[in-house]
Amino acid sequence: MSEIESLKQESRIFEPPADFVSNATISGMDTYRAMCSAAANDYEGFWAALARKNLSWHRPFTKTLDESEAPFYKWFEDGELNVSYNCLDRNLQNGNADKTAIIFEADDGKVTKLTYQELYERVCKFANGLKSLGIKKSDRVVIYMPMSIEGVVAMQACARIGATHSVVFGGFSAKSLQERIIDAGAVAVLTADQQVRGGKHLPLKAIVDEALALGGCEAVKHVVVYKRTGDAVKLTAGRDLWLHELVEKQAAACEPEWVSAEHPLFILYTSGSTGTPKGVQHSSGGYLLWAALTMKWVFDIKPADVFWCTADIGWVTGHTYIAYGPLAVGATQIVFEGIPTYPNAGRFWETIQKHKTSVFYTAPTAIRSLIKAADATPEVHPSKYDLSSLRLLGTVGEPINPEAWMWYYKNIGREKCPIVDTFWQTETGGHMISPLPGATPMVPGSCTLPLPGIMTAIVDEAGHDLPDGQGGILVVKRPWPAMIRTIWGDPERFKKSYFPEEFGGKLYLAGDGAIRNEKTGYFTITGRIDDVLNVSGHRMGTMEIESALVANPIVAEAAVVGKPDDTTGESICAFVVLKRSRPTGDEARQIAKELRDWVAKEIGPIAKPKEIRFGDNLPKTRSGKIMRRLLRVLAKNEEISQDISTLENPAILEQLKQAL
Ligand code: PRX
Repeated sequence: MSEIESLKQESRIFEPPADFVSNATISGMDTYRAMCSAAANDYEGFWAALARKNLSWHRPFTKTLDESEAPFYKWFEDGELNVSYNCLDRNLQNGNADKTAIIFEADDGKVTKLTYQELYERVCKFANGLKSLGIKKSDRVVIYMPMSIEGVVAMQACARIGATHSVVFGGFSAKSLQERIIDAGAVAVLTADQQVRGGKHLPLKAIVDEALALGGCEAVKHVVVYKRTGDAVKLTAGRDLWLHELVEKQAAACEPEWVSAEHPLFILYTSGSTGTPKGVQHSSGGYLLWAALTMKWVFDIKPADVFWCTADIGWVTGHTYIAYGPLAVGATQIVFEGIPTYPNAGRFWETIQKHKTSVFYTAPTAIRSLIKAADATPEVHPSKYDLSSLRLLGTVGEPINPEAWMWYYKNIGREKCPIVDTFWQTETGGHMISPLPGATPMVPGSCTLPLPGIMTAIVDEAGHDLPDGQGGILVVKRPWPAMIRTIWGDPERFKKSYFPEEFGGKLYLAGDGAIRNEKTGYFTITGRIDDVLNVSGHRMGTMEIESALVANPIVAEAAVVGKPDDTTGESICAFVVLKRSRPTGDEARQIAKELRDWVAKEIGPIAKPKEIRFGDNLPKTRSGKIMRRLLRVLAKNEEISQDISTLENPAILEQLKQAL
């Protein structure tokens, strides 16, 4: 039975615990349905009321949704606000000044706590420092920083002065960083000397130097360096300066720059099926509204909670559920520098115990790898830790298989914590389809139902609604406040990618397939329907990896496909034709290693193919098109049962069957 077939037959239903329901922000399915009806009956009124109630506006908006230039939708456009004001100043006024905002857990276990007052002062000093360099509203600032208080402060400081940040994950290579700096037109890069992960010091500043040396980044006038380790780094006079020196004499207050709700808060690059990564542009007002609301609705955040999202600030999850959402609702959160397996695979559970974490949000990949570790090393089994502080669990980034869900439910949640399996994307800004923990009965492997106000549907190739039980294409029928506004610098690509004419230009295309259960109406995501892979919850375009491979002088041709993987969800399998004869044995292994390192240098270590197979050619149709569906079967080491009559060179299949 295929995974999808077994998910369709998944019949276990877990009701939310009664005590959770009675205290929940959204309590019971009737409340959920009433909210959905309110949105359906008066869509703009629904959002306008939420935006007035949940955000502080410097100037109130008079128009909620502007569809006149669809699909370039605008929300609350004439309203003015500042995101950092909403995340910080508002907390000082609300009596949260002395409340812990951030519990920073360093790689080595050292803890630093920061109150909202302290965070406010740090952000203001950083913001004043940026201003002193001449950085101003609408300038783009690239942030290439480790998981740190300073990373969050840097993002908030940009928001405070109206600069648009673009965070680049610290695992991306110099070349990827350079491409993003150029595309964004950044005037400054904020970085650190090193990052520390799993006991190792990994360079950041040196990679920034390398990126800038690649050329084309002349707009970058400043590189600000946070001293994390103190290891030697080179500073270029006139361009580079230490963060601590920049901020030391700055005032601890900084008047926020009031911006339109549509002002771009950030650009975040993500992979698509074609071309270079896309700069997903997000707004200020609509984005922040959804970050705050989903903290309340999906994470049911209460004043006493200790929230922990294990994502990195380099991904959208770390934007919405570390840098913005938790602060917008005055929560206490953990910011974690390390990795789940250092000093051992009990690190997550120990950290939950240590800081009495109550809401925990992580990726299925992490859960699956920790299941394996717990089986292999009983000392780090979660049963060895006091996890009684937990009241809610969440997952994000990829489908969670029912077995992993059950393990999480039993071993981490001890059968008393609801699990929110949150489906969303870089482009959606925040959660889209997810259980509400005090309302929705849960089914392992299903993200259940769209959130109130989110009009998801499943359609066929022509954009027509499909009946439940029939898998199809996941779309969103109405614009929502936190949605992507455009692709930075490429509005045409935005339209083509997300609102294609084939679907009438009005449906948002998520790029995922989905199926809805006939009885419950619950959604199950069946995976990407484009050439995007999901490796450990990281999004990678097959085209990007292919381009990186063929950029190597010894490579003639390459095709990349995803292969199901027990731990990482999918893994990268590359089929490569060299310009020389096909290598075998040790030589093939050596060249494969060189190519993997090459991809790490071109894109970043996360894009390294797990497997590389060499052939004299690739399976092609008579017209020369690579038959990727056959490669997917070969990657899985399955027998080919498909029709191969259009295949020009069937003999090649035998050769490509062999893994190294
Ligand atoms: O395929 C879906 C998968 O991750 C993609 C979005 O990736 P990214 O933009 O990097 O954002 C990840 C964090 C929000 C989606 O198109 N995905 C995300 N969450 C889930 C999921 N697939 C299944 N279930 C989920 N809960």
